[in-house]
Amino acid sequence: MYLTRFAALAATLLAPAMAVAGDLRADANAVFKPIDAASVASVVKNNEITPAKIDLGAKLFFDPRLSKSQIISCNSCHNLGTGGVDAGPTSIGHGWAKGPRRAPTVLNAVFNVAQFWDGRAVDLKAQAKGPVQADVEMNNTPAQVEKMLNSMPAYVAEFKAAFPADPKPVSFDNMAKAIEAFEATLTTPNAPFDKFLKGDVNALNDVEKKGLRLFIDKGCAACHGGVNIGGNGYFPFGVAQKPGVEIMPVADKGRSKVTNDVADDFVFRSAPLRNVALRAPYFHTGSVWTLEEAVDLMAKDQLGENLSDPDIKAIVAFLGTLNGDQPKAIYPVLPPRTKDTPLPQ
Ligand code: HEM
Ligand code: HEM
Repeated sequence: MYLTRFAALAATLLAPAMAVAGDLRADANAVFKPIDAASVASVVKNNEITPAKIDLGAKLFFDPRLSKSQIISCNSCHNLGTGGVDAGPTSIGHGWAKGPRRAPTVLNAVFNVAQFWDGRAVDLKAQAKGPVQADVEMNNTPAQVEKMLNSMPAYVAEFKAAFPADPKPVSFDNMAKAIEAFEATLTTPNAPFDKFLKGDVNALNDVEKKGLRLFIDKGCAACHGGVNIGGNGYFPFGVAQKPGVEIMPVADKGRSKVTNDVADDFVFRSAPLRNVALRAPYFHTGSVWTLEEAVDLMAKDQLGENLSDPDIKAIVAFLGTLNGDQPKAIYPVLPPRTKDTPLPQ
């Protein structure tokens, strides 16, 4: 059944691209959505977003004391000054350990169907508990984090204000909820592409429009659609041909580790492409350093197409129109430690 599913997908994607003429803006609006205020409200579940939670979440996001060494914060690997990612290729965490995967961006992550390259966390609050405990990331324990937070009266007061109805406001779960609330603010609206979708036909120049047309007609949009121009579904990496092992090592089988289904071997979530020009290197191994090479590889490996240089350049120009207003990141002043605060280890 899965084979049939993938065979059908491959047939659709590998069919000769039909040059569809017509209204580019209408065609784009059929597959993509702009970021607007309503988009965030509709995607965060079971966690009311309040100003108190957002403020607390910002502090937690920037606080290195969530890590065992107390030198690694979420921002170390998801730097808001560099598109929500680290320098790459894959992340460096606790004890200088090199993780197996590239850090995906936290910008607009709220729009993804699920979190991580393999979608193993259902949402941002489920996700946030992972890195704090992962040995190659922050290597901490929930008990130690709660002890750390309880040791600082300013944090205790902020948790009470953010979770007023909760009998135990300072908790690992509430830490994750506050971080989710902050991350829900990390959206990048007003990209030239959003303006185009909303009606400003001059927001894209001719080369960018050509790139958009190619992106739709060649079949990229079949996997990279919706509000985040990707991040909305799972697809085999290597529909037409398998990428080399330096790009897709055999040890990381992707989604099958989540579903326990061999049909999902080497299936990954399609990468969300908003702000993609700001955050090389690319793919889950961070092994490709230019967008031109990434587009060329996608065309060959996902679509079985050899794109011409001008076509690659046009698609790259279009991808550049996905850069939106970057969130204003004001580094928060963090609560001072007390004599009860655990020491770095
Ligand atoms: C994945 C947030 C700490 C490295 C993610 C994702 C989010 C996120 C939202 C999923 C994004 C997506 O799937 O599009 C956070 C938060 C952190 C934190 C809130 C602090 C609590 C870190 C640290 C590192 C790191 C310290 C590096 C040492 C990564 C990597 C992935 C990831 C490598 C992808 C892992 C995979 O797909 O298996 N993080 N992160 N993160 N983060 Fe973080
Ligand atoms: C990743 C662009 C077609 C599925 C990417 C990335 C780019 C890109 C730039 C890397 C983003 C990053 O690392 O942050 C394109 C373009 C396409 C195209 C320009 C058309 C020429 C497709 C198609 C599919 C697909 C047709 C589905 C069959 C994926 C997946 C990833 C990805 C699963 C993540 C791969 C990984 O695990 O590293 N795409 N794409 N793409 N794309 Fe595409």
